[in-house]
Parts: sequence; C-alpha cells; structure tokens
Amino acid sequence: MGKNVAVVGVGAVGIEILKILKERNFPADRIRVFARTKREIKIGRDSYQVEAISDQNFDNINIAFFAGTEGAKGASVQYAHKFIEKGAVVIDNGKDFRLKPDVPLVVPEINKSDIDKNKGLIANPNCTTIQMVVALGGVFKRFGLERIVMTSLQATSGGGRASAQSLWEETKYIVEKNKDKKYFNQLDKDRNGTESSFTDQIAFNALPQIGSFNQDGFTSEEQKVVDESHKIYGDNKIKISSTCVRVPVFTSHSESIYFKTVQPASLEEIRKVLVDSQGVNFSESNSQLPLALGAEGSDLVHLGRLRADSSEKNCFWIWAVADNLRKGAALNAVQIAENL
Ligand SMILES: NC(=O)c1ccc[n+]([C@@H]2O[C@H](COP(=O)([O-])OP(=O)(O)OC[C@H]3O[C@@H](n4cnc5c(N)ncnc54)[C@H](OP(=O)(O)O)[C@@H]3O)[C@@H](O)[C@H]2O)c1
Repeated sequence: MGKNVAVVGVGAVGIEILKILKERNFPADRIRVFARTKREIKIGRDSYQVEAISDQNFDNINIAFFAGTEGAKGASVQYAHKFIEKGAVVIDNGKDFRLKPDVPLVVPEINKSDIDKNKGLIANPNCTTIQMVVALGGVFKRFGLERIVMTSLQATSGGGRASAQSLWEETKYIVEKNKDKKYFNQLDKDRNGTESSFTDQIAFNALPQIGSFNQDGFTSEEQKVVDESHKIYGDNKIKISSTCVRVPVFTSHSESIYFKTVQPASLEEIRKVLVDSQGVNFSESNSQLPLALGAEGSDLVHLGRLRADSSEKNCFWIWAVADNLRKGAALNAVQIAENL
C-alpha cells in the first residue's frame, strides 16, 4: 500500500520535492500540498491544488515534507508538531530542529541508521553541509578526518526563490541600462529599479556573508557547517572551519575543500576511496571539471581537482559541486523518506 504524503511549501525546495517524488515513482497514494495561500500550481504537465495551511485536517498523512520558511512564524515551528500528533513523520528542511538531541539529522549515504531513532521528526541538513559530508564520507569512514577547511561559492537559489529572482532582476537591470557601454558592473547607488533579497548587489559580485554574523566573526551559515557535520558524522573531534560566499549563480553550490586524515593516507588511496564513495561522481580528468552548470539537475556530488598538499602529510584538496536544490535539499529529503 502507498503512503499519504504532504508537502508544505512550494518555493525553490518544495517544487523540487514534488518533481523528485514523481521522477522516482515514490509510492504515494495521495499528495497534499500546503503553502500560505491557496492556488493551483503547474509543474510541467502536472497541476497541484495548493491548500492554505491552517490548523485543521492533517489526518491520515504518513510522511510530511516541510519546505517552508524558518523561525517562529515559519511553517515547521507552527505546524510540524500538529502533523506529528496526527501520526505523520515530518522531514524538515529548515534549521529549526537540526541540532535538537532527539532529532536525527540525516544524510543517507553517511548515517541512514539514525532514521530509526526518530520520534516523528527527522531533519534535513543545510545544503552546504550535505554536499561536503557526502564528498568526504568515504574518506571519513576509511581514514577518519582530523581537519576540514572549506570555502563555498553558493548559488542564489540557496536563499529561496526570492533570492534567485533578485539575481535575475539585478542582472537584467544593469545589462539593459548599460547596453551601449563596454563594461558595466554597478547598480545605481539608490538601487533604483530593483528590489533585492540581498543587502549588497549580487549581480557581477561575490558576497562573503550568508546568514547573520556571530560574535566571533563567523556567520550562521559557517557555524551550521561545523555543528551539522559533527552531528552527521557523529564525531565532534573533527576540526572544521569555513568561509561561505554567495555568488551570482542560480543553481549549484561549489566548494573548495581542504582536509587532513587521521590515519596516514596516500594520494592514490584517497583517489580509490573517492572512486568508490557513495553518492559521488569523481572526475580524474582536468578536461572534465565539475562545474556548477553541469551539476544542475544531477543527483550526485561531483568531485574533481584532487591534489595532495606537498607541504603537509595526509592533507588534500578537492573541488565539490552539487545541485543545492536536489542533493542539498529535496533529493536528500526524499531519500530519507524512501529509507523510512
Ligand atoms: N533553497 C535551498 O537550496 C535550500 C537548501 C536546504 C534547505 N533549505 C531550507 O528549505 C526551506 C525552504 O526553502 P526555499 O528555498 O524553498 O524557500 P522559498 O523559496 O522562500 O519558499 C518558501 C515556501 O514556504 C511557504 N511558507 C512560508 N511560510 C509558511 C508558513 N508559515 N506556512 C506554510 N507555508 C509557508 C511559502 O508559501 P507561499 O508560496 O504561499 O508564499 C513558500 O511556498 C527553508 O527552511 C530553507 O532554509 C533551502
């Protein structure tokens, strides 16, 4: 017998969940879709009736994917427990519950057995974290990880549909306004003509801030990479540090990852582990570099540019690219549901 499924939120991630449920023939008898406002949406040839979420009628739902906004007024904080009380297992994409001790934080390639510990709620990690832990998952299992230093170049869709739209509007505005000039970069100082989700211009720029700043100068996004990786690997001893940067790309995050193993490892041994790692596509050819555009629509984390640091033993560099809306969010959530 199939399951009754709910999807809460039909923004960047929710739409992708609906697409992936269909692509993977998820055994759903019925899919109910919720958001803030009632309407009909079309995804390809399929139409979905979106119900305005309210307090009533969450009966007979087995699995509920939450892809609404976060915080006190977000969908998960307001409604997840109401679905759970009626017997559903909630898989939540937001940050609200990820670090709670009784909520499993799951990337199936790494810790799918944690799914069995759920008490009605399973958290999906942050997109940046998911692709890093998958990239290094095989290495972690074989050699252990002593240190990870990562710089991310993150797509605007990672901030939701409004952020991707801001990149489009800014780019269009600048190109149209400057079409007779050879080079153009700046929006007008007053940002006339565009509304943006970003505090600084994102078009033709790179913003070294994702989330809010902590007292130590790191951002909330960078802190998530540390805390969530520790929880997923079940190893708080790994020294992790990162810089997260928003770049003018619509889809797919790119990460430059430096890592040091606990056990001695040669470049050849790391190469073999990466070839066999779950959920990755390792390219050894510098003429087939993993690119953001190439990863769009793909289910894998694409790896390349493996190098050994000649100045330090057991230290390596890798370049990792993945579709933030798929493996970074929707696909990982659906994989959790498949394991359930
Ligand atoms: N984008 C990514 O790459 C990514 C990756 C990992 C995790 N996440 C997380 O996934 C969640 C969804 O992100 P997104 O990028 O899809 O956001 P988004 O594009 O801004 O879409 C948000 C959706 O949530 C709905 N919503 C907002 N508040 C709600 C409420 N109180 N009750 C019911 N529905 C509500 C909105 O409804 P209306 O359509 O009616 O306005 C909209 O459909 C967030 O928690 C985000 O942090 C995102």
